[in-house]
Amino acid sequence: MYIGVDLGTSSLKVLVSDVDGKILDYERKEYPIYYPKKDYSEQVPEDWYNALITTLKKLGERNSLDNVRAISFCGQMHGLVILDSNDNVLRPAILWNDNRTSEETRYLNETIGKEKLLEWTGNIAFNGFTAPKLLWLKKNEKKTFDKIAKIMLPKDYLVYKMSDIHASDVSDNSGTLYFDVKNKIWSKDMLSVIGIDEGQLPKIYESFEVVGTVSKKFSTLTGLSTNTKVVAGGGDQAVGAIGTGTIDGEGISVSLGTSGVVFASTDEYKNVGEGIHSFCHSNGKYHLMGCMLSCAGSLEFWLNNILNTTEFDKDVEAIKGASAGGLFFLPYLAGERSPINDPNAKGTFFGLTLGHTREDMTRAVVEGVSLGLKDCYLHMGINAKYARVIGGGVKSPEWLQILADCLGIEIRTLKTNEGGGLGAIILAMVADWAYKDIEQATKKLITYKNHYTPNPSKTKFYNDKYTKFKQLYSLLQKTK
Ligand code: XUL
Repeated sequence: MYIGVDLGTSSLKVLVSDVDGKILDYERKEYPIYYPKKDYSEQVPEDWYNALITTLKKLGERNSLDNVRAISFCGQMHGLVILDSNDNVLRPAILWNDNRTSEETRYLNETIGKEKLLEWTGNIAFNGFTAPKLLWLKKNEKKTFDKIAKIMLPKDYLVYKMSDIHASDVSDNSGTLYFDVKNKIWSKDMLSVIGIDEGQLPKIYESFEVVGTVSKKFSTLTGLSTNTKVVAGGGDQAVGAIGTGTIDGEGISVSLGTSGVVFASTDEYKNVGEGIHSFCHSNGKYHLMGCMLSCAGSLEFWLNNILNTTEFDKDVEAIKGASAGGLFFLPYLAGERSPINDPNAKGTFFGLTLGHTREDMTRAVVEGVSLGLKDCYLHMGINAKYARVIGGGVKSPEWLQILADCLGIEIRTLKTNEGGGLGAIILAMVADWAYKDIEQATKKLITYKNHYTPNPSKTKFYNDKYTKFKQLYSLLQKTK
């Protein structure tokens, strides 16, 4: 058997599979997220660890966990976990969606300068990244900063507790801004800007490499064998992409979650502009990633907060006959990361007339979000044949058709929607040589469900609408 651990922001999910990728069992445990002040977002690493122990114990009641050959991870990215010299967690983890670091992010982008950051690390600074969090800590909690013996990312804390090995991987560290993505080494320049040294950082592996085996203590606690291989794992987007089979340039993946992600695998390191992330992939290569902050989140806001509807699916399907021809929606309700990188961008409806209906407005929201995804895709300079779509939006065939028409490429949905957990299982299997490589594993394990083909006349319509969508954003810039 193999185990995939998905360390999310709301819960920890553990999947057990056989060598054919068949999910044999599953457990999930939620934990709190703390917002102690405006813009703060924190979690307690021990909560993640306790969730892991609880779920493994439950799985152990129904399965012989000593048969597990390897275990790997898919983790929420960017979070700062720090330990003192006695291995105690020094403070709650500062998470990927914490926004306290605007000043530090500005300092990095403006004083150190975006050009230097791009040269040293391959990316510019974003509030969510790890480096600004360390600078914040140095300024605001200096005593804690001075006690740091080990720095790690969320999933690495679980790896450490399980194996006693301080290890991490290339994909997760791509979002730290102290890792040189292209060369897969620490950026000495950034370490000196922050004031940390390599002795505090983990040993770096590819996501599918074995870092060690389960410790005696962890084996006694959970029933896993001390022969079980602990495999590095990776950041949630990269491992999620392994779970959809997005490992070459032929197909991209699009995630229609609260935030939206367009993910493209690339053979070489590529930089296409500051609003698109250039990260290491979990298959040993690289990837580009555009992250939209309000994707299904825009639709949730419109349906829940404004229309006050509980019939979410019915409202979304009702857009089928609607026409939002002259009606535009800009989805920048929480500012925007990719590709415009404008935290002050705002959402808007434009072009309303007395003739428009509720359905037209809902359609405009879905189209606006899809045009935002098209914006990310076009900025990546990739010519994909198709996109695999995952996330909550997969439930709406109408949205999927709009997306196919907007992107002008075929949309495919997948038979299993396990994403990150399945990706982690594939990493564990490849590390254990159950498959020759990730390509062989994904070819065997990932199968499609439905296909949506773009309609050329609709694609022409959306190309035109996209041009106006971009003009509208530029014009509205002047009104800020
Ligand atoms: C990636 C990102 C999210 C978090 C939480 O850049 O911010 O995917 O890892 O899911």
